[in-house]
Amino acid sequence: MSNPIAARVDELRKELTHHNHRYYVLDDPIISDGEYDRLIEELRGIEAEHPELLTPDSPTQRVGAAPAEGFTQVQHQRPMLSLGNAFDPEGMEAWHRRVSGLLDGASFPMACELKIDGLAVSLIYRDGKLVQGATRGDGTTGEDVTQNLRTVRSIPLELMGDPPPSYLEVRGEVYMPLESFRRLNEQRAERGEQLYANPRNSGAGTIRNLDSRVTADRNMQIWVYSLIDAGDHPVPENHWESLEWLKSLGFRVNPNNRLCQSIEEVEEYYQSWLEGRHGLGYEADGVVVKVNPFGYQDSLGIVGREPRWAIAYKFPAERATTRLLDIGINVGRTGSLNPYAMLEPVVVSGATVRNASLHNEEDINRKDIRIGDWVVVERAGDVIPQVVAPIVERRTGAEKTFAMPEHCPICATEVVKDDDDAMHRCPNPSCPAQFVELLKHFVSRGAMDIEGLGERWCGILIEEGLVKDLADLYSLRQDQLLELERMGDILAAKIIANIEESKQRSLPRLLFALGIFHVGSEVAELLCQRYSSLGALMDAPASELTEIAGIGPKIAESIVSYFAVDANRAVIDKLREAGVDPQHEVVIPTADEMPWSGLTFVVTGTLSSMTRRDAEGRIKLLGGAATSSVTRKTRYLVAGASAGSKLATAERLGTEVLDEDAFLRLLENPSDAVLEPELPLAP
Ligand code: IVH
Repeated sequence: MSNPIAARVDELRKELTHHNHRYYVLDDPIISDGEYDRLIEELRGIEAEHPELLTPDSPTQRVGAAPAEGFTQVQHQRPMLSLGNAFDPEGMEAWHRRVSGLLDGASFPMACELKIDGLAVSLIYRDGKLVQGATRGDGTTGEDVTQNLRTVRSIPLELMGDPPPSYLEVRGEVYMPLESFRRLNEQRAERGEQLYANPRNSGAGTIRNLDSRVTADRNMQIWVYSLIDAGDHPVPENHWESLEWLKSLGFRVNPNNRLCQSIEEVEEYYQSWLEGRHGLGYEADGVVVKVNPFGYQDSLGIVGREPRWAIAYKFPAERATTRLLDIGINVGRTGSLNPYAMLEPVVVSGATVRNASLHNEEDINRKDIRIGDWVVVERAGDVIPQVVAPIVERRTGAEKTFAMPEHCPICATEVVKDDDDAMHRCPNPSCPAQFVELLKHFVSRGAMDIEGLGERWCGILIEEGLVKDLADLYSLRQDQLLELERMGDILAAKIIANIEESKQRSLPRLLFALGIFHVGSEVAELLCQRYSSLGALMDAPASELTEIAGIGPKIAESIVSYFAVDANRAVIDKLREAGVDPQHEVVIPTADEMPWSGLTFVVTGTLSSMTRRDAEGRIKLLGGAATSSVTRKTRYLVAGASAGSKLATAERLGTEVLDEDAFLRLLENPSDAVLEPELPLAP
């Protein structure tokens, strides 16, 4: 290669592909994450400067691309088959006898593999490069999901092998590891989004997502289980060796596969995974048994869509039905009220299930789960059992619909529910269920910074009844601490001194330390621009809070509801009495610091340099008001791209319109804004 840059790109890609394989396929990296990142950054940098060198199989292209319009269909060269099932040793023995008979009594080795519960895909390589990835579809026609499959790190974009076959088709199962599934559903619950029922559905949804960036984010994996076509490249004589070959080309082949010589061995394999599957980290719903020699496979052939030479030996279902006796509530660390099903105990795949998660009220309502219902319970791998659905046919009429409690079951404080939050929450941070977490936060470094009071001591102080609310910290005495097991003189003295010293913390730190929902350290700083003390903030109405740039209705509402709780006000009073009451001078900005006071702005359309909300924040910071509709009082309409009716109104009313550039200039020279449009001087 004559061009040194192209040569470096080539070298980097080779190296990255190699390390990718070590990491994602062999699970045996030989360089650190940092070194890998440096290599990929170098490649990214070159590709950004030389877009002509960018290719779709570059290791940098695993991040996904902008949403597709839809998937194109692809015809499979050979149909993607399904499998006949067996559910017990008798079924397996019957299959074995049938196959043996068809092979004139010959004995034959069988490859045993885990049956991965995911999504079957076909991968086609030309000249060693991945050119097409497709779903199974109806077996004959699937969907082209190449873009998405490129983001699956364990699918090689380029084959190893010297040289690699000029044409290759392999098939395998793409799946979502249980850990990724758990994380995904956790995030979805927090955002109030509908939860995926199981890793299989979420995996299928992920591979068929039109936005491959979503796929890239979800840590999908593959096990490759079939060689379909190697073009004119010579192929091994049996399935087992073909998998070995695929491994050498860089494919991820399941190390739990086993070559068995007899049906007894197959049964042993099956039995060992019946229990063992729970430790796999992904879902397997059975074992696939395949006659090993390709010659025998060919002579056995296919009936309909099912090869005679393979069978799925299924694990028993992981579902069971039972009665939902009642719905209980746990209070989480953030005050969330988490409903859970109290079930008549039932055995689901070897484990007795008494409780199952119900996520939130919306989920219960959507599934229409009622107390007293017969329900289907599922253990998705090692995931916490779920109530899948009620069995409506078995209702007697005595079932009761569920409503979230209005008061916290732990501390009886009235529960709050935000529209944009799927969870009901107990707003009382002194609620015992939440209090340990709050105390840990209060004493932490960014907050009141009380050194010596680590996590462990926080728990002990609460357990021993020495600290029941935050303010109790300030009445702790050294002799009380010394009664605690493993507490020494020096530490006790240090803790007491540090508690005393923390009274000097600034107001923003104290506000942050209180752990008010949505009040992080930045919001706390903003609040202190306006309020000089806790006392001043405590009674501020939401409408006043939202006047502060950067404080929206959600934050304001959270602050107001915090101070509306009697228990919270009592703690604040106690803190202030104990001497924790920082005051500071609020500097009321002078007219030239607030050049836009009295000016009303409306922001519409799309700005390229900031969001509309940011623009409104900037306006408020300069003392201006940002409203949503254009009236005669509007001084300026800031119109971004695709401004619509507001622009029309402004033109009709003669309101001055600023495009984005003009607005940015005005932000830089705020005093150029004037209260009234200049009137022509009277002659
Ligand atoms: S072999 C013989 N091997 O099971 C052709 N399939 O019910 C069938 N599957 O659509 C493929 N793990 O999605 C084979 N180790 C494995 C498998 C496996 C999961 C899926 C595959 C197929 C379905 C057939």
